Amino acid sequence: MANDNQFRARTEFVAARGVREYRETISALIRADDVVLEVGCGWGTTTAELARHTRQVLGTDIGRECIQRARSMHPTLDFRVLDAFDLRAVLALAKPFTAVYVDLSGLSGYRGLLDLIALLNAYAALLCPRVIVVKSGALKHFAQHCRAWAQTHGAAAG
Ligand SMILES: C[S@@+](CC[C@H](N)C(=O)[O-])C[C@H]1O[C@@H](n2cnc3c(N)ncnc32)[C@H](O)[C@@H]1O
Repeated sequence: MANDNQFRARTEFVAARGVREYRETISALIRADDVVLEVGCGWGTTTAELARHTRQVLGTDIGRECIQRARSMHPTLDFRVLDAFDLRAVLALAKPFTAVYVDLSGLSGYRGLLDLIALLNAYAALLCPRVIVVKSGALKHFAQHCRAWAQTHGAAAG
């Protein structure tokens, strides 16, 4: 049964719509001492942009051919084949990730939203990064129309 442990994570989640916004976050959020993981790196274009802002970055993707292509396009960077949902494999990377970039095909729309939120919470709980940036128009739209309830001063309950 769920309990208060699910609210303990202190990771900030940033939702971006489209690849332009996704990459735009890098200069605003990434520091030189960050250790960054990108899941769903494709051919490594965003991983390479991340590498311009920090010394430690790892690009991962479920597609073996994507990783081969990423390695040949960016031979100085580290890329691995990895299923983002294989949490044991993510933990086995054994790196102190401070930022995680998530760009998974099929999870950016409303139909994938619950799976995406579950995955983001798992990454926050397991890796405790400072920030997780996710490319998801649906999550951005949802977040823009959400607000955390806080009782206004003087309002009586009940
Ligand atoms: C839009 S592309 C990534 C583009 C890349 N992030 C960039 O900015 O250039 C989405 C990627 O998600 C990968 N993907 C889909 N499901 C995945 C999973 N379960 N684990 C890891 N990667 C996955 C696909 O193989 C694909 O390369």
